Amino acid sequence: MPSAVTPQIVSDWQLSKHSQMGVQCFVCHGEAHRTATDFANAKIPTPETCALCHAQQVEQFKSGKHALAWAAMKAMPTAHWQPMVLMEGMKGCGGCHKIGLKSEAEIAELKKTGAGFGVASCDACHTRHLFSAEEARQPQACQTCHIPSFARSLPTKVWWDWSKAGQDVAEPPKDQWGQKLYDKMKGEFKWAKDVVPPIFGSTAPPRDTSRETP
Ligand code: HEC
Ligand code: HEC
Ligand code: HEC
Ligand code: HEC
Ligand code: HEC
Repeated sequence: MPSAVTPQIVSDWQLSKHSQMGVQCFVCHGEAHRTATDFANAKIPTPETCALCHAQQVEQFKSGKHALAWAAMKAMPTAHWQPMVLMEGMKGCGGCHKIGLKSEAEIAELKKTGAGFGVASCDACHTRHLFSAEEARQPQACQTCHIPSFARSLPTKVWWDWSKAGQDVAEPPKDQWGQKLYDKMKGEFKWAKDVVPPIFGSTAPPRDTSRETP
């Protein structure tokens, strides 16, 4: 199966259980795409595509919280305040919340706006086209979206005001990590270390251990 356009997709698939078991491209993408120019005819899989063979996993996924992620994002005014360039193509909020189930109408809308992907959900933890259970068992599979804290060892800029640039400050002030808070060329900064990502301007609520199984 030679491919000039998507060689990595083919080589990933070749390493997969699907390839071993004869689950070929057309099983998930349909048979309508035949030539180099009619790729628009390829079907983009949804969890229903996988349900054909993995009914139990799809059932479990649908009854879990991940299935609600898309609806939860769309319900927030903050999602609609984002500039389009930050939202299109599953950037911004969609980078993580694409894991949720979408309606037929939402899928059609996404296709119209040019996002030819992001409707599968199932490839969030065992990524396409390897679809490996081993990969999904690694903590990193979850960390792409669940980030307990960032900038753990080195502080990072979390605020930057360009409009303050151009002033002559003899001795720019420094913060507790020794980072300069001002630079004539660049303006004013704030730095932070070991930051817990805020959810809507608030930090995560304190951990409720009473909800955890011992
Ligand atoms: C035509 C049937 C078929 C379809 C459709 C299908 N699979 Fe599979 N899948 C299999 C078979 C067969 C295996 C190997 C046996 C097993 O592990 O259940 C497998 C295995 C897997 C595994 C485990 C691989 C491993 O490392 O053990 C994952 C993950 C997976 N499939 C995900 C998916 C996802 C996601 C979709 C939809 C996008 C999908 N499959 C669609 C047949 C299918
Ligand atoms: C593509 C991004 C993404 C990946 C990868 C991901 N998650 Fe999630 N997860 C989310 C989002 C978004 C939510 C919030 C959904 C909602 O509540 O609407 C969530 C919610 C959860 C919740 C429910 C939390 C609560 O407060 O109820 C658990 C538990 C969870 N994820 C565990 C995992 C585990 C374990 C993995 C890895 C095996 C994982 N997730 C991988 C995006 C992701
Ligand atoms: C880096 C990944 C990521 C990004 C980007 C992201 N989220 Fe989330 N979001 C999550 C995770 C993970 C959770 C679940 C947190 C938990 O329960 O511990 C969540 C939870 C939520 C919830 C609560 C859902 C519930 O059922 O309680 C809403 C609403 C939400 N996010 C909306 C948004 C919006 C709007 C944006 C963009 C402005 C956004 N998210 C960006 C990962 C992300
Ligand atoms: C087990 C089901 C399955 C099989 C088999 C499969 N794919 Fe996919 N493919 C997917 C899923 C799931 C997506 C992601 C859809 C989404 O995110 O909405 C995808 C996306 C794609 C995309 C567009 C996004 C990207 O990754 O660039 C291309 C191109 C593609 N597949 C080509 C192939 C080719 C070529 C083969 C055969 C070598 C193949 N697929 C086999 C499930 C499959
Ligand atoms: C939040 C991450 C995540 C999502 C989303 C996800 N999976 Fe999985 N999947 C896993 C993990 C982790 C394993 C390995 C489980 C184990 O080893 O016990 C797995 C294993 C599998 C397997 C191998 C057999 C088994 O059950 O262990 C199949 C098949 C599979 N998933 C299909 C799917 C399908 C279909 C979807 C979409 C409906 C999906 N998965 C969505 C994390 C995920």
